[in-house]
Amino acid sequence: MTQKESSGRRVALILGGSGDIGRAVAHRLAADGVDIALSSRSQAALAEAASAISGARVKAYAGDLAQPATAEQLVGDVVRDFGRLDIVVGSAGAFRHGEFLALTPQDWTDGFAAMFFGTVNVVTQAWPHLVATRGHLVTVTGLFAVQPSARGPLPSAIAGALLNFTKTTAEIGLRDGVSVNSVLPGPTEGNRQRDNLRGRPDYQGMDDAAMFQAYAKRFGIERLAKPEDVAELVVYLTSDKGRHIQGASIVIDGGFSRLL
Ligand SMILES: NC(=O)c1ccc[n+]([C@@H]2O[C@H](COP(=O)([O-])OP(=O)(O)OC[C@H]3O[C@@H](n4cnc5c(N)ncnc54)[C@H](OP(=O)(O)O)[C@@H]3O)[C@@H](O)[C@H]2O)c1
Repeated sequence: MTQKESSGRRVALILGGSGDIGRAVAHRLAADGVDIALSSRSQAALAEAASAISGARVKAYAGDLAQPATAEQLVGDVVRDFGRLDIVVGSAGAFRHGEFLALTPQDWTDGFAAMFFGTVNVVTQAWPHLVATRGHLVTVTGLFAVQPSARGPLPSAIAGALLNFTKTTAEIGLRDGVSVNSVLPGPTEGNRQRDNLRGRPDYQGMDDAAMFQAYAKRFGIERLAKPEDVAELVVYLTSDKGRHIQGASIVIDGGFSRLL
């Protein structure tokens, strides 16, 4: 494998780069002059996401994070193609909602395999490269990590585990010069919330915008988060300005949770 020489621009690997939040992060980082490596399973969705980004070098890497071999291949390919790695954003995941009695053992295994083990494996592979660039890791975990819900025991448990991993990794980051933080979005507009709310009787007959608005109203907030809100925070945490923030878990939910 021949490694390309670095262009000198920073390089970000975005797990879940075809998702609502991953795409928004990619756009915002690209606008700041960061080159982008997008990863998820669907080649077609990645190609579409990549083609919508301008002003930066963008490459797509299709792979299933639930497969243990994917992480090493992915990080190896990115470093071969770009010559360096400065930022990893962990924003991948797919899991079933529903009360625990409705979940199968396979649901639990599959949920953890991608979002938890897949992210951990990528961070492990990426770490030496992040050390070399004094880089940044941001995990997108979720409000569920600190305010679990019986409606979503699976995302609650995975987000909690990933947040826990992020915290211990931040301690290693202190030693190794890598900035490590987690952002905890509340409900965020996009496919995931649409799927989550669509079947509920309260929202029958509403279009997406009205459904999101009605859900926000129920919790006394003006609107749900937009992927761009989350992206702005991720980008700040990966900038020099955010360098003194380490091991933080930052909730971004418009006041939805009222957490201390
Ligand atoms: N949206 C919210 O309201 C919200 C709130 C709190 C936290 N979060 C967290 O934020 C993260 C991103 O959310 P989002 O709204 O952007 O979700 P999304 O639109 O569903 O995107 C999820 C991304 O993960 C990828 N992915 C799923 N399974 C994968 C696998 N096995 N291997 C590789 N990639 C995989 C998906 O692409 P493929 O399916 O093509 O692989 C997609 O790119 C998630 O971890 C979510 O739990 C979201």
